[in-house]
Amino acid sequence: MKAPNFLLLLLLLSVIVPVIIQCDDNLINQICRRTPFRDLCIATLEPNTNSSSSDVKGLASIMANIVLGNASDTLNYIEGLIKQAPDPQQERALANCAELYIPVVRYELPQAIDALSKGHFGFANYCIADAGKQADACEKGFSGSAKSPLSDRNNLLKSLCGIAVAIINLLAKGLS
Ligand SMILES: *[C@@H]1O[C@H](CO)[C@@H](O)[C@H](O)[C@H]1NC(C)=O
Ligand SMILES: *[C@@H]1O[C@H](CO)[C@@H](O)[C@H](O)[C@H]1NC(C)=O
Repeated sequence: MKAPNFLLLLLLLSVIVPVIIQCDDNLINQICRRTPFRDLCIATLEPNTNSSSSDVKGLASIMANIVLGNASDTLNYIEGLIKQAPDPQQERALANCAELYIPVVRYELPQAIDALSKGHFGFANYCIADAGKQADACEKGFSGSAKSPLSDRNNLLKSLCGIAVAIINLLAKGLS
């Protein structure tokens, strides 16, 4: 292909591709395909959206709130488990998790949601990515006889954080 034709093709694509994206009526599929956990992303967003919330920013905000909901729910669950911990090793690991989850639920994720609403995508993502790391740290605190009763929850939170970060990255690139 000669250079001018190639340029023409590029120009054509740059016009057509955004049109295709706009015309696809299922934004959730479009967006979720570009996150690390497509199916979880769709299953999480679909029941929680309606036409008034479906732009990329709306989806990012819904996802961030679901991350907070899950983290908060897990913190309550941890606090319940601490009260009935069978042995000191298990109790220590659970207390460690509570210490990790408390700042995530009280400060980090609410700050991320606030930053997102103000368009501070980098800071929002920093906080959400860190929340995922705390879930990981909680999980790693269990060892030997102290089996983690939180594996599913920690893994889910980590995945949800990964999805939220990916959506916010799309938003930061100017997709709306
Ligand atoms: C649509 O979603 C938004 C945000 O999630 C919510 O505030 C609003 O009440 C919903 N509207 C309907 C009709 O369900
Ligand atoms: C936790 O995340 C799942 C998404 O897989 C969602 O369906 C559920 O409602 C969330 N739980 C809370 C308490 O937010």
